[in-house]
Amino acid sequence: MTDYHNMQGKEVLITGGVGFIGSNLARRLVMFGAKVTLVDSLIPLYGGNLHNIKDIKDQVTVNISDVRDPFAMAYLIQGKDYLFNLAGQTSHLDSMTNPQADIDINAAAQLSILEACRQHNQKIKIVFASTRQLYGKPEYLPVDEAHPIRPVDVNGINKLAGEWYHLLYNNVYGIRACALRLTNTYGPGMRVKDARQTFLGIWIRNIIEGKPILVFGDGLQLRDFNYVDDVVDALLMAALDAKADGQVFNLGSKEVVSLNQLAQMLSELRPESSYEIVPFPPERKVIDIGDYYSNYDKFQTALGWQPTIDLKQGLAASLGYYEKNSAYYWEP
Ligand SMILES: NC(=O)c1ccc[n+]([C@@H]2O[C@H](COP(=O)([O-])OP(=O)(O)OC[C@H]3O[C@@H](n4cnc5c(N)ncnc54)[C@H](O)[C@@H]3O)[C@@H](O)[C@H]2O)c1
Repeated sequence: MTDYHNMQGKEVLITGGVGFIGSNLARRLVMFGAKVTLVDSLIPLYGGNLHNIKDIKDQVTVNISDVRDPFAMAYLIQGKDYLFNLAGQTSHLDSMTNPQADIDINAAAQLSILEACRQHNQKIKIVFASTRQLYGKPEYLPVDEAHPIRPVDVNGINKLAGEWYHLLYNNVYGIRACALRLTNTYGPGMRVKDARQTFLGIWIRNIIEGKPILVFGDGLQLRDFNYVDDVVDALLMAALDAKADGQVFNLGSKEVVSLNQLAQMLSELRPESSYEIVPFPPERKVIDIGDYYSNYDKFQTALGWQPTIDLKQGLAASLGYYEKNSAYYWEP
């Protein structure tokens, strides 16, 4: 088992650290005594939210800057033991309407971060947050790492480039890096004010506001979900274990549900909620990947990771969090 206490006293940089996954990771790192610096641009369209770090703000250093600024990154990277590289433009739809911003953040800035490491800190270990989106529409299920790569949107292409820059710098320059291909991640701290990032976010908001949740298509699409604490475990294991270096791993869950089943689970947790099945908006339909769930055997076998929080438990925790904290995540 990975001993997270090995993070004690370590200098850690998290890009996108005020976002959903970054802030949850920061909280855990603080718990294990790491010296944590968060870099985040807090661009309102993206998922950064200072409320995410309210409880740890005095125990971390927050640097509001943009990963597209090579001077800021060259400075911030110095002296760090670990980089969790999580900053990203994460909206698939936005990547189609504003592809340039997506390539600048998800590809070009990634290359310049790695260049900063090559020039200023070759001893750093990097974990990159990649995505299942780069597989596109699955040819078979569950999708393993050998599945063909056929992104269906601009975001998938740019994240793939970002991922491969990391592997290249590992292979060519020996800067230890690995990538985790995350599937749908949810939990406290995710963006719920709109459907920019995940439909589950807006579903949670609608339930709390007493509005029906909208299920697109026929609701039969299959998905797997990871609660954020399990993803934090995965990120820490990948950082601390040399077996991850130069590798790409899927994350995933044994619990696979249709969107209808997910809506049903939420209505069991909040009986006053309701859902409606509506036609797919055309701009979403063209980039939809159909059914998806991962095979994460490679990561489980190599590093021993497996998710521990079941969907119902995670959904209950998420609903409870947003019921208490809604004022910080959307304006009524
Ligand atoms: N949440 C998921 O389901 C999921 C799935 C697959 C991959 N991922 C990847 O995980 C990473 C974290 O995602 P998240 O869900 O926490 O999203 P998030 O939007 O909450 O976090 C990303 C953070 O990056 C910051 N950011 C964006 N552009 C920036 C820039 N130019 N400079 C500095 N900071 C910038 C945002 O402000 C935000 O705080 C992303 O790279 C995403 O692609 C997430």
